[in-house]
Amino acid sequence: MRNDTASKPETIFRKDYIAPGFWVDTVEMGFDLDLSATHVATRMTMRRNHDSSEKDLVLFGESLKLLQLRMNGVNLKKSAYKIEGETLRIANAPDEVTLEIETRINPLKNTSLSGLYASNGNFITQCEAEGFRKITWFPDRPDVMAKYTVMLRADKKKFPVLLSNGNLIEEGDLGDGRHFAKWEDPFKKPSYLFALVAGKLVCQEENYKLKSGREVLLQVWVEDGNLDKTQHAMDSLKNSIRWDEERFGLELDLDRFMIVATGDFNMGAMENKGLNIFNTKYVLANPSIATDVDYAGIESVVGHEYFHNWTGNRVTCRDWFQLSLKEGLTVFRDQEFSADLVGTATGRAVKRIEDVRLLRQVQFSEDAGPMAHPVRPDSFVEINNFYTVTIYEKGSEVVRMYYTLLGHDGFRKGMDLYFERHDGQAVECDDFRAAMADSSGRDLTQFERWYSQAGTPRVKVDAIYDAEAQTYSITLSQSCPATPGQTEKLPFHIPVAMGLLGADGKDIPLHSVAYEAQAGATSLVLELTEASQTFVFTGVSSKPVPSLLRNFSAPVVLEIDYSDEELGLLLANDSDPFNRWEAGQRLATRRLVKLTTAVQQGEELSLDGMFIEALRATLNDASLDPAFRELVLTLPSEAMIAEEFKVVDPQAIHTARQFARATITEHLRADLLSAYEGHLTPGKYSPDAQSMAKRGLKNLALSYLLEWSDESTFELAKTQFDDAENMTDRLAALTALTNFSGTDKQAKSAAKSLKAFYKDFKKEALVIDKWFMLQATARTTDVAKIRDLMEHPAFTLNNPNRARSLTFAFCNANPSRFHAVDGSGYALWAELVIALNKLNPQVAARLARSMDRWKKYPESLQVHMKAALQKVADTKKLSKDVLEVVSKALA
Ligand code: PHE
Ligand code: ZN
Repeated sequence: MRNDTASKPETIFRKDYIAPGFWVDTVEMGFDLDLSATHVATRMTMRRNHDSSEKDLVLFGESLKLLQLRMNGVNLKKSAYKIEGETLRIANAPDEVTLEIETRINPLKNTSLSGLYASNGNFITQCEAEGFRKITWFPDRPDVMAKYTVMLRADKKKFPVLLSNGNLIEEGDLGDGRHFAKWEDPFKKPSYLFALVAGKLVCQEENYKLKSGREVLLQVWVEDGNLDKTQHAMDSLKNSIRWDEERFGLELDLDRFMIVATGDFNMGAMENKGLNIFNTKYVLANPSIATDVDYAGIESVVGHEYFHNWTGNRVTCRDWFQLSLKEGLTVFRDQEFSADLVGTATGRAVKRIEDVRLLRQVQFSEDAGPMAHPVRPDSFVEINNFYTVTIYEKGSEVVRMYYTLLGHDGFRKGMDLYFERHDGQAVECDDFRAAMADSSGRDLTQFERWYSQAGTPRVKVDAIYDAEAQTYSITLSQSCPATPGQTEKLPFHIPVAMGLLGADGKDIPLHSVAYEAQAGATSLVLELTEASQTFVFTGVSSKPVPSLLRNFSAPVVLEIDYSDEELGLLLANDSDPFNRWEAGQRLATRRLVKLTTAVQQGEELSLDGMFIEALRATLNDASLDPAFRELVLTLPSEAMIAEEFKVVDPQAIHTARQFARATITEHLRADLLSAYEGHLTPGKYSPDAQSMAKRGLKNLALSYLLEWSDESTFELAKTQFDDAENMTDRLAALTALTNFSGTDKQAKSAAKSLKAFYKDFKKEALVIDKWFMLQATARTTDVAKIRDLMEHPAFTLNNPNRARSLTFAFCNANPSRFHAVDGSGYALWAELVIALNKLNPQVAARLARSMDRWKKYPESLQVHMKAALQKVADTKKLSKDVLEVVSKALA
């Protein structure tokens, strides 16, 4: 057992919020940069906040060597302040204070990648959420906003480039081989948006003209040798700037905007004011190293960070419980950005389907597990554990519901009012809701429950057709399962977009007394606000097929009994492309669940003709966007199938899904082959939506074709691998080859390709990540193989991308192997979490989450899982991050 209560970390509650005792107006910082001993001098002017009940002057600090502390020019004696843990308190401070603080820090030893750290000989900072306190003592909380001036000094040879937020106002030599650069950020900001970068970097730069005519300087900074991989990030940045002007009327407020790529980063990227810092994964791309998925990821993350400049930076969060205020809104904005860039209606739907797939697979699962929390949490132990799919993706769904309820123009009005009211402030989720309510005149009181109640609501559908009265009545009943700390839930305000299809598959004009103003429309947004409500449609001349929750209008589970025939009709005809896809997924899920049960009971497996023919029809329908066809043809993932069961049997699910894939291939071989041949994209690689869609369908066809052991398809993949002119095709072929089960000779040939791939891309870290990931998720890769790969000279736990590529991929994306019946996967997991805990608590805690749903597995596995969790929980010097995750799992 863990020793005692003394080591039990403190829980922080939203209800305990107290405004800061002192505001900070200006911050001047001087850095003498040295990899193992950086000296930081900070001078800040502070003023008492008379409205706060906090009378002390409170600063936070972590892992700092405090060299000096002066208040209003006087050195403070040890007795004049009190340090307890991360808190430094000065009692009886005057109302106006100038604090001067000197600290020394060791970036080289900072493996947490939070605060100031070294990456490949360069200096990088990461201050969100609470990293600034690892640089200096400071009121490190987002509601304290100040203007910063930053002086950087360093060796000129080793650190020729010196960057910080805002504008460069002075630079020059200091003699003795050192130089300096002085930066000034004209906007006040919270400390979590502070950044500096220093080192050997090169940049692609461009002058860009804003709509207003003002010229700005855009830069993408990378390590030497990567300048051939920055064009897509630069294009994405320009698209982002233009989009925010056009869609939201928001202009870039600085004269210079910089992106820096680093190979050592805990997350995707960070929106520091004017100096975004990115994981290389979301910057570097050229056709030979990056896939279509990478290109799309870069576009959306560059957009995301840029959009934060208004939603996050200009208007920020009052406290970290409000994190979704900036993250949910900014995800919504980046999703809309990507959708608008594609432009077409099906392109938008494809993007929507991809986003919903992620939400369901990861967020619904989080919402059903021990870490479930509301979009605006009530408590946390470690804020870093709350950068979750609930805060981001569900948060975005909540914003999208305003959009659905208020309409395009109504939503824009709400956004305008939000900025008009709160520019330059640190605010709460409720302020955003108030702006939406006040600008539209709508009562959004009940809508607040989306922020306060965790769990995924379920909406049950009962429908009755009255032929005589020609009415169709839909009864919607909502409920929400209990989540940790919340047993009772009140009804949500749920927008349910819907339509009715006639027997011909066409939309029926809708007439409902409750929605008179929209009489005759073919799509309506019903508003479900009570536990149960009935909506009656009149003038319905024959029994319709309902299409509900169109475009996934709310983050709920829709429980509805469709017949196969009805689903077939929806799949073939629904005017809402999201629900067309959804119908196909329902058909597939139903079958995969049945197959899984059959596997468990040792029954013979079979797949019916109706389903296969529906897939064939979709695959061959040239009028459909290939990207849409690819989505329909992609079976629900093993994780999604698992959600259908009370008790999860990963091996049975895997067997069932593989059987389905092989059977589909058996029947659709000719169709798949012509889909393959019909969607080649010869010539120069281009990451446009159309070419991506073609490659996507072609490579899906390839992966199916290789489910059927056969010489010619193996050769097809081999040829594609050898001749590929881009990473998308090369990686797809290699994945198919690696997962192919054929003759020994073929296995040898596949292994040879894998080797060649490594050799060809040895110098490209992001490609070697793919090489590890591909093997981590291969069907034949077991725990022993992972241990082998961990011994590979290119593997290290020190780099988050590399650690994730092998170990996270295995624990999260290879369920039938990770959940090996002997528990060896869990033992490996425990070892990894413990090892990572010492290096990087944030990354360790992420991996710890792989065990969240352990209570969903059979007893025989639970025993091993519990032991592994307990082993981690019993580890000495466990970080708050990991401790919170494992103790919640064990609770
Ligand atoms: N705020 C970043 C984003 O969403 C994510 C992030 C959080 C990055 C914490 C680093 C550390 O864009
Ligand atoms: Zn963000």
